[in-house]
Amino acid sequence: MNAVEIEEAISKLAEQPFDPAQFPYAFLEAFGNKATTISRLRSGNSNNTDIESAVLQYNNIHMAVCPAGEVLKTLEKLKNSPATVRQKAKFILATDGEDFQAEDLTSGVTVACTYRDFPDHFGFFLPLAGISTVKQISENAFDIRATGRLNKLYIELLKDNPDWGAEERRPDMNHFMARLIFCFFAEDTDIFNGSGLFTTTIEQMSAKDSSNTHEVISEIFRAMNTKIEDREAAKLPRWADIFPYVNGGLFSGSTETPGFSKIARTYLLHVGKLDWKRINPDIFGSMIQAVAEDEERGALGMHYTSVPNILKVLNPLFLDDLRAKLEEAGDNPRTLLNLRKRMARIRVFDPACGSGNFLVIAYKEMRAIEAEINRRRHETHLSSEIPLTNFRGIELRNFSAEIARLALIIAEYQCDVLYCGQKEALAQFLPLDAQNWITCGNALRLDWLSICPPTGTDVKVIADDLFNIPLDQAQIDFENEGGETYICGNPPYLGGKKQSLEQKDDMERVFGRGNQFKNLDYISAFFQKAAIYLCGLDKCAFVSTSSINQGTHVPTLWPRIFELGAFISFCHTPFKWANNAANNAGVFVNILGLAKDKKGSLYIFDGERRKEAAHINAYLIDGSNKIVEPASASIFGLEKMITGNAPYDGGHLFIETAEREKIVSEYPEAVVLFRRVTGTAEFNDGKVRWCIWVDDINLELANSIPFIHQRFRRVADNRSAAGDVAKTLVDRPHQFRYRHTGRTHLVLVPQISAEMRPYLPVGYLEANIIPTHLAHVLYDGSLVSFSLLSSKLHQVWLKTVSGRLGNGIRYSSNICWNTFPVPPLTEKNKNDLTHCAEDILLAREAHFPATIANLYEPENMPENLRHAHERNDEVLERIYMGRRFKNDTERLEKLFDMYTKMTAK
Ligand SMILES: C[S@@+](CC[C@H](N)C(=O)[O-])C[C@H]1O[C@@H](n2cnc3c(N)ncnc32)[C@H](O)[C@@H]1O
Repeated sequence: MNAVEIEEAISKLAEQPFDPAQFPYAFLEAFGNKATTISRLRSGNSNNTDIESAVLQYNNIHMAVCPAGEVLKTLEKLKNSPATVRQKAKFILATDGEDFQAEDLTSGVTVACTYRDFPDHFGFFLPLAGISTVKQISENAFDIRATGRLNKLYIELLKDNPDWGAEERRPDMNHFMARLIFCFFAEDTDIFNGSGLFTTTIEQMSAKDSSNTHEVISEIFRAMNTKIEDREAAKLPRWADIFPYVNGGLFSGSTETPGFSKIARTYLLHVGKLDWKRINPDIFGSMIQAVAEDEERGALGMHYTSVPNILKVLNPLFLDDLRAKLEEAGDNPRTLLNLRKRMARIRVFDPACGSGNFLVIAYKEMRAIEAEINRRRHETHLSSEIPLTNFRGIELRNFSAEIARLALIIAEYQCDVLYCGQKEALAQFLPLDAQNWITCGNALRLDWLSICPPTGTDVKVIADDLFNIPLDQAQIDFENEGGETYICGNPPYLGGKKQSLEQKDDMERVFGRGNQFKNLDYISAFFQKAAIYLCGLDKCAFVSTSSINQGTHVPTLWPRIFELGAFISFCHTPFKWANNAANNAGVFVNILGLAKDKKGSLYIFDGERRKEAAHINAYLIDGSNKIVEPASASIFGLEKMITGNAPYDGGHLFIETAEREKIVSEYPEAVVLFRRVTGTAEFNDGKVRWCIWVDDINLELANSIPFIHQRFRRVADNRSAAGDVAKTLVDRPHQFRYRHTGRTHLVLVPQISAEMRPYLPVGYLEANIIPTHLAHVLYDGSLVSFSLLSSKLHQVWLKTVSGRLGNGIRYSSNICWNTFPVPPLTEKNKNDLTHCAEDILLAREAHFPATIANLYEPENMPENLRHAHERNDEVLERIYMGRRFKNDTERLEKLFDMYTKMTAK
């Protein structure tokens, strides 16, 4: 269940008559517990409470329904109960059906409210459903509730009006929903004359059978599109005439309204009765945009950029500077005035703005600074000088673009109420400005200079042809006249292989033709366009997939950006992207700032730590722009690593265990014809696989066994039909192309390893196992190499320099091993590292038969194995640094420094 579904379920529960006996089970059911779990609790089998009639679910909640007036006492009893601790309850809850109290035992946060209102606190309980919430979700019950209700209405309307769901009518449907949202907000915030005016009018004027609901709404919309002086001629019905003139693009154009069924009418009235004053335009906008996307509706926007992450972009980009200037200005009226004037000329531009959450947050934060200036200048009566139209965006999806406009309008009104008072806010609000400063279109095909011109204040008005026709750049004067533009956002990430034909075409328009750009992530084009756009004091910062500062992106993308005169002005090193636990897709992101103006310090943020840097290179290291180039042998004199043996066999030299056993039972002497074989998958999952491995001396024996002989024929056929290399092997179909083997053992390196793993799992295998080309090998490699490969230093190096395959690191000996910086090792160092390597192997063995995949699961790595790796890191890092490195940034800095020095020689 997602948060929206849970909210709906508990709201329904609170509306039903209170049933003391059923409440605990109904509560757990609303949080997604399965019927079998509930029935085991009911039967007492899994109810571990030590309090009569209470219910205790292991590792979750201890709750009790109590007699009237005893809620507090009961909560104390639950808290002091030994079973609460023993059974690791995270929450306690007591209710008598009137009052409701609960405590989160981990944080100590409590909830006390009437029983009816407990759904308002549903975010508090979301961990019960396995959703580890960020604060925003738990604190924004309203936004989730409103989204859930609107979602239902949207689906119902599409059901009743299938034509409105068709591609060409979707924009009408989206526009209609945006109008509704505006009306719900307006009727609860005195923008309409009379509280609840919109919903009440529909309720009163439309027939209960819903037959004329659309006509009533249509008339109200018509009123909002008719200037007061034109009202008489428009012949509006009296009940519609009381609505103000709103227009501003929102109510212009057709007022056609989809038909309503009885259910849709009821949903509409339900949504209208929510208290829309409480809407958070940033959060709500992000959630509601998913309503219009068929494939995203289920998740309801739960993966939008959270406010803390938005601030990680906006603060270092420009808000920190504004706040610092405010601090410096103190009470000096002149300096404060200059700052206010400067802010009025700042433009914030998000070229993939979704529902406008970055723009809304930037606007709100700037209004807060402006309000403080006005307070210090004793001018709190002044209205804002920050034009909303300075917050510009481009968005591909029509509904999101609609919502972004609306979200900004709502944010402006809320700020006006907060800083200027309700009366002033109302006086300023209507009619809405007809300008459109959010363009619906493809940012990679539009000219950003036209959408957000560096001079002047014109904004583009939406036009259908914007989608494909680039606007004329030449007409735009490039001087910025002292104003500043900050480009920000979280543009889409999409690996080369996942891009649609249209997106590939977008990439080609930005980068030109060339094979080297084929694997660039889609977001690269946004960086490239930003680097072209920036001038003067302008800056840019995007949330990005971390892969654009790793592997092949570095040599392909970054030199182009640096050539344009842009440099990395700040960065947040990669962190895991997650808004809720249900959506922890293992995506790592970073935040990158670009600028051209050299003034100011450069910062690398690593979690909460901030470090000043002399220069930030494309790997996000404080170091030179050196790019790590593939090498054919280790430049630090390490042992030779090669790829395992490629078979070129069409699969015919591999056989299953059962087949091998059958042959060996018939022909015991055939035992010499088979070898165990491993690539990455077999190594990870402990799978036993065999191959036919025939030395020339045994060829006659092999050919005498019909099964094997037939396999050779198939290999030969396959090779004859395949490419040039395979054809050269037709004469020896009994053998792989390569036949490398170890004398004593193999050190095996997986070709792909999950990025989330703390370490690269390296194998130390018997020499008679044949490694395939799906792994890399150090034949008879030393345990010292095993130790180096198994270290955190190596893992950090890999993550930075290697290519990617999905969420996996693609290991390549040329780029990962042959470049890996290692200091000269003394005999003592080698002995120490050998011991560490042995300890890692012993620690693994203690868990036999656990597979490598099990042992290296990031969250579940056994303690002894983690400890053995940490010991290995400790010993190795002392060799590099004389102490442990403080963090990965420091590790990388050291490695890059060594690499740069070595390659300079
Ligand atoms: C990762 S979302 C970020 C949106 C918003 N800031 C948020 O946090 O929800 C990226 C947005 O870019 C939009 N988008 C994708 N390709 C685009 C393009 N070529 N031009 C403009 N917008 C695009 C998507 O529709 C989506 O709304």
